[in-house]
Amino acid sequence: MERLQKIIAHSGVASRRKAEELILDGKVKVNGEVVKTLGTKVGQNDKVEVNGVPLENEAPVYFVLNKPRGVISAVQDDKNRKVVTDFFPLVEERIYPVGRLDYDTSGLLIMTNDGEFANLLMHPKNEVDKVYVAKVKGIPMREQLKKLIHGIKLEDGMTAPAKVKVISTDKKKNTSIIQITIHEGRNRQVRRMFEAIGHPVIKLKREQYGFLTLKGLRPGDARELTPHEVKQLRVMASNNGK
Ligand code: URA
Repeated sequence: MERLQKIIAHSGVASRRKAEELILDGKVKVNGEVVKTLGTKVGQNDKVEVNGVPLENEAPVYFVLNKPRGVISAVQDDKNRKVVTDFFPLVEERIYPVGRLDYDTSGLLIMTNDGEFANLLMHPKNEVDKVYVAKVKGIPMREQLKKLIHGIKLEDGMTAPAKVKVISTDKKKNTSIIQITIHEGRNRQVRRMFEAIGHPVIKLKREQYGFLTLKGLRPGDARELTPHEVKQLRVMASNNGK
């Protein structure tokens, strides 16, 4: 079940805001009845009409983007900052990011207009492994890294076990490059995990999402996922990330 305004926006008829206006103006019917309540939940078998015209769903599209730093993982920003959809000027479908990367985080972000696919990948139960490379302040001791490996208490609870690999350390600059693999997707999770062991993140990049990598993509580049990759991602999420 999805919110009515989201269904209308994803069908390509109108933006989310315009869809809300259409609903409030009584221009939207669900199963033949005018619905004026924002947020009404509708399912796949419900018939939605806008101005008397049944909704046609957009054909689903799937992309992988190498998000640069300094870009918002959203489709629009009220402060006019750069958003991830700015990298898809020729894509007419209403795509949006699957989950998010922080403004200052770069790397791999999946974009789609397929809500069911996005929900499947983002469902906490189905979280696939994500590999991040972090430049952190200081040189963490093994004991500190073990806390990340076993799970560490954050304000929203314990983290699941993580894989951690020290790539390099720079004694002069007092920084380290650390690869960390997690399958959860909590807000600012990697930053908060390193913060919790006293080694704040200076720079963060997501290099891998399941089997997907950034191969061939410079920052700001995107490519369409192959049908096989989409299928593999679905299978992976349905098998709870395995
Ligand atoms: N963890 C973070 O801290 N930030 C991100 O953007 C992604 C994961």
